[in-house]
Amino acid sequence: MREGIDVCGPDEIEEGTARVIEPEESGFDESIALFHTETGCFFALDDRCTHEDASLAEGWIEGETVECPLHSSSFSLRTGKVLCLPATRDARTHRVEVAGGRVVLYPGVDADGAARANE
Ligand code: FES
Repeated sequence: MREGIDVCGPDEIEEGTARVIEPEESGFDESIALFHTETGCFFALDDRCTHEDASLAEGWIEGETVECPLHSSSFSLRTGKVLCLPATRDARTHRVEVAGGRVVLYPGVDADGAARANE
């Protein structure tokens, strides 16, 4: 597995918001949106919507979904699955772990679930 990137402490991303991890920070070829849900889970998707060029980190987070700010497609944060048109392609997920009080992102490694700050 690729090496993880220590991004921040769990409290440094407010619940219900996301932070963009730029390629300079991650060494990955795409910007990644790191989400912290109101249920305390962390997920990561490619920051670019699969429909057109919009930042999913600027979208509306509800539960474990994010709605694209441009044309309102929504995606599962857990699986990247597209849930409504106009986007038709799933978003790529990235693994996130919370370990030792830090949020660790694994760019390019598929997520297999949520990372929780309290586990
Ligand atoms: S750019 Fe995201 S739905 Fe169109």
